[in-house]
Amino acid sequence: MAKLIGLNKIKTAVFISGTGSNLKNLINFSKTKKSPISIDLIISNTIKAKGLRYSNQYKIKKKILNFKNNKIAEKRLLNLLKQNKIQFICLAGFMKILSSKFIKQFNGKIINIHPSLLPRYKGLNTHSRAIQNKDKFTGCSVHYVTEKLDSGKIIIQKKIKILKKDTPRSLAKKVLKQEHKLYPKAILKIFN
Ligand code: GRF
Repeated sequence: MAKLIGLNKIKTAVFISGTGSNLKNLINFSKTKKSPISIDLIISNTIKAKGLRYSNQYKIKKKILNFKNNKIAEKRLLNLLKQNKIQFICLAGFMKILSSKFIKQFNGKIINIHPSLLPRYKGLNTHSRAIQNKDKFTGCSVHYVTEKLDSGKIIIQKKIKILKKDTPRSLAKKVLKQEHKLYPKAILKIFN
């Protein structure tokens, strides 16, 4: 991966579907001197993603793609990434599953953040599942994206204690706060 780093920062696209707090955090990180990446493109599968507001705020190009037809959407997506010379992709709350064909085109260059200590709790509702199972700890993971959902090699994880009083909501808040520290750390780990 180190060979991606030239004089310029690594052109990165962030894919979102929702609030975009990780996107905002990554944008702020990308503006620091130590960041190996720049955020050049924001992709969303829905116009409703609140995180799209950061496109205007930070003057970053955005594109909304309709994934009703996955094949067409991914073809457009690949063209867009090519046109914008994107070299690296960060998924941040992106709710669509990318095809293996797409992933192969960016082999080893797509990462994701997930709100659990993978391999525990792949998929959705991670916090309520952890509470239901009376787990003592939860956390978040940054991992490479492969064809299998939430199963690629783990880059970095952060463990977080679950308190008796925790609800899925309080836990989500705590975990998200740690996600914002973990995602930049993962990127530094990959490229340094
Ligand atoms: C985060 O909890 C992330 O781990 C998960 O989706 C959530 C996205 O939050 N994949 P945000 O849109 O970045 O605020």
